[in-house]
Formats: sequence, structure tokens, C-alpha cells
Amino acid sequence: MSAGSLLGELDGVGRDRARGGFSRHAFDPAERDLREWFIERALRLGLDVETDRNGNMWAWWGAQGPDAVVTGSHLDSVPGGGAFDGPLGVVSALDAVESLQAKGFTPAKPFAVVVFAEEEGGRFGVPCLGSRLLTGSIDADKARGLRDPDGVTLAEAASQAGLAPEWFGADPDLLGKIGRFVELHVEQGRGLIDLGSPVAVGSTVIAHGRWRFSFGGQGNHAGATLMGDRHDPMLPAASVIAAARRAASATGDGRATVGRLVPTPGGTNVIASTVDLWLDARVPGSGRTPALVAEITEAAREAAEAEGCSVTVSEESYSDTVTFDAALRDELKTRLGDVPELPTGAGHDAGILAAYVPSGMLYVRNPTGISHAPEEFAEAADVDHGVRALADVLEHLST
Ligand code: GLV
Ligand code: MN
Ligand code: MN
Repeated sequence: MSAGSLLGELDGVGRDRARGGFSRHAFDPAERDLREWFIERALRLGLDVETDRNGNMWAWWGAQGPDAVVTGSHLDSVPGGGAFDGPLGVVSALDAVESLQAKGFTPAKPFAVVVFAEEEGGRFGVPCLGSRLLTGSIDADKARGLRDPDGVTLAEAASQAGLAPEWFGADPDLLGKIGRFVELHVEQGRGLIDLGSPVAVGSTVIAHGRWRFSFGGQGNHAGATLMGDRHDPMLPAASVIAAARRAASATGDGRATVGRLVPTPGGTNVIASTVDLWLDARVPGSGRTPALVAEITEAAREAAEAEGCSVTVSEESYSDTVTFDAALRDELKTRLGDVPELPTGAGHDAGILAAYVPSGMLYVRNPTGISHAPEEFAEAADVDHGVRALADVLEHLST
């Protein structure tokens, strides 16, 4: 079945009526439906499906073994996300396998399609959780204790989904089987529009991370409390938003975003007692992201002090700049001919794996230039182009 038709099968899963787009979060009903869908689709291709100790799904074409060629992506989404971020890489992988089978090709090397768990960190806050656990780049106890907005821990959610979270953690045997990893992904900016190309080979991933700012003040009555008597944590929270825009703009190429802010108790006529917000910061190069966050933190501390509020800042995740394997990039470009290379501001499981195994990415043009929103898109012709490129590369790597 073509990648476009496979994507069509997912169209009704995890629709978010309130936000628009899709909300498919780790181990929620929609994501579990997608897991079942993947297993069924992989079995129909004759692949052997297994869920690893960290909740990532592996569909092996032939026997498992070392030096495997692995492709895939993720099926979870951000809240109210688009249809392509993640699923495009999975359906393209399945389509590529089917088209290679149709022409009678059998890989000479072990070969697998993988679906990584909780890539977006949309439920438990840490992105690329499945690949971080697999590689041991997050402590398993820390991961197990992560909580969703309702207070459910990752361990509880995973247990309810039939996994055994006590087994979470680095899996050197499985990691050691991966020879090369190639992730196809929808492009998330305007890069390929500007280059006038349907596909690109990934070059670098910008350094990026997430920080939680928690402000404490005095909850009180919105009408009875004079302005001079307030300790309103919304004030320093607002200063973070403004400082993020100001400081990131001043770097020239950095990005900083406050996309989530939670006042407690959250009443129109109530001065908040606490405000939590999450800063997403990304600056190319080494050391510049922490410097940007330090500047924003300083602004937060000053604003909190001026309002008589407390503030704590904690890092929830950080990934340094990734440069994808030069030899694999060269192989991909040689194979695909005249395709451009593209850096990205988005994080990916391929970026996590890159520290452990040669990893690379293929991007497919997104004509809206918009991602993490319902407007994210890829034209059918570009999707076909991406699948052909992926199949070509996988055939070459596994021969
Ligand atoms: C994932 O798409 C991210 O970079 O946030
Ligand atoms: Mn994403
Ligand atoms: Mn993605």
C-alpha cells in the first residue's frame, strides 16, 4: 500500500476536536491504536514485530542480527499537531519495504523498521524518550518517574499499556545490532521551498532543550487586592516570555519559545498562587543555548524579586548540536544524485542515535513551511519522491 494510502488509514485516529489537528500521546488510546495499526501493517508485509524493553516497536525483515539497516520514525504527535511529523517516516518505511519486496529484492543484511516511543515529549515532557532510554542517555529511574499533566507517571502509563517499566533502560544488545539508521521526516520549515527541491539529506540538528520555570506568589482576590499589595507570579512569567523573544532575537539565529504556561488555580477573578511555564530554547553551535537560557533566567529572577515571588528553574532535557555521520551523508547524496543538504531546527530520534551509530535523515518538502500545527503538509508527488529515495537508499545500504 502506498505511503499516501497508509497515511489515509491514520486520518481518523487521534483527531483533536478542541485544538484541531491530532493529539496522539504516548500510551494514550490514540497512540495505542496506532501501535496496533503498525503491528498489523508490518505483519502483512511478513515482518516479525517486537516491542523492545523501552516501548519502541521493531519490525524485522528476515532474521535479527548485527550491522542492521534500520529506518523509521515515530507515531506520537505534539498537542494539536499535523498528520506528517512522525507518521510520514513510518508509512514511507513500510511503503519502501513493500516496493523492494515487489521487485524481488531481499536484504543481504538484517533490516528493520522502527517506531520510537514518545518522540515529541507531548505527554511526559522529555522528547525522544524511547531512543534516549534505548541508548541510555536518560536515567531509567528518572524516566519512570516523569509525570504527565494529570500526575500519571510514565511507569504507570507504560504498565497500563502492558509494558514492564521495571525493564526500562539502556539496551546495548539491541543498539549494537544497528549498523546504520536512516529516518525520513517531513521538513518542518521553509528550507526545501527555498531550495526548490522535493527532498534533502539532513546535515545538522541545532542544540536544543527544555526548561521549567516555577514561580510562587500569593493567591488572592482579583477585586479586593490593591495593585501595590500583590505578589502575582504572572508578572515574572510574563517577563520570561518577553525576555525569550528579546534575547533569542539578539543572538541572530537562536530561537526561544514559551508554548505552555499553567497558572494555579487558574481562575479569571483569582490572582494565581503559582505559575509554571516551559521554555524551549535552541541556538546553533555549542554552548550558546545554555548562555541564552542563563540570560532569560536572570531576567526571570529579577522580575520575581521585584514582585516578591519565588522562582525555581530546572532543565528537563538538553541535546547538543548533532552533525550527522559524514560517510553516510556522502553515501546518501551519491545515491540520490543532486539533492541538497539541510540543517534543521527540529529534534529527532536520529539525532539521539547519531551519538551511538551512523545515522542520517531524509527530509520531504513541506509546501506550507508550517509544522507542529494542522497546516503541516506534503504533496503526494513529494511523498512518492521521498519513498523512492528511501527505498533506493535502503536497497543500497542493505545489499
Ligand atoms: C520535535 O519535533 C522538536 O524538535 O520539538
Ligand atoms: Mn515534532
Ligand atoms: Mn518528528
